[in-house]
Amino acid sequence: APKKPKSWRFKLSDQLPKHVAVIMDGNGRWAQMRDLPRHEGHRAGAKSARAAVSAAHKLGLEHLTLYAFSTENWSRPKEEVRFLFDLLLDFMKSEVSTLLEQSIRLQVLGELSDLPQGVRQAVRQVIKRTSGGTEMTLNIALNYSSRVELIRAVRLMVEQGLSPDQVTSEAFEANLYTAGQPDPDLIIRTSGEYRLSNFLLYQAAYSEFYFTDVLWPDFGEDEFNEAVKAYAERNRRFGLTGEQV
Ligand code: FPP
Repeated sequence: APKKPKSWRFKLSDQLPKHVAVIMDGNGRWAQMRDLPRHEGHRAGAKSARAAVSAAHKLGLEHLTLYAFSTENWSRPKEEVRFLFDLLLDFMKSEVSTLLEQSIRLQVLGELSDLPQGVRQAVRQVIKRTSGGTEMTLNIALNYSSRVELIRAVRLMVEQGLSPDQVTSEAFEANLYTAGQPDPDLIIRTSGEYRLSNFLLYQAAYSEFYFTDVLWPDFGEDEFNEAVKAYAERNRRFGLTGEQV
């Protein structure tokens, strides 16, 4: 029998986003629905993170940002926090070869210095080893808070001794964690939540949003492609009538 075409197949004329950012939500509920401990949801979520990197790379996206740990997440139970850092450590160890093979450069958005030493060292090492990657930038938002990022940028500009008229959008953007990177074209949030949750507040000024009820552990390559496809179709319609598209 002929294979059913996947609904996310792309046309050459489809406009791909350059930068996709993801709020990976719903791990806890995924586990709860299966009578599993919450950390099993995070373990499954880490698999989806790998799938997202793979999907983004295959599509030829230039930047992918994954929101892995917010400054607010410190208030979760100690064991859950420890498990999340263990998963990150695993991710660093298991993915470094893939990142190198696919010429993907790792960056972190957030305050690395406040993380447990083991995680900090592993992350710093992967950042260093992959720094020559030219095909894609993978940003992991880790110990991230957008408000902290904005205040930090102001503090840095003061430290740099900028005069009021030197405080431009260029100077400001150069002091964000995302310095040198384009703003996200598309922000995905899973699990039926409709909030930005202190994520890329400045950078999201013109972003398109994609919300889905799918829980993060169930969000695989097909779902990622589906979201990018939805963006491509929205964007292609911009200023045109339905018939023109
Ligand atoms: C939200 O689900 C998810 C997190 C707070 C952590 C995200 C981390 C991962 C997906 C795994 C590690 C990441 C990498 C890159 C290896 P939740 O626990 O808030 O879910 P709930 O709202 O259903 O409780």
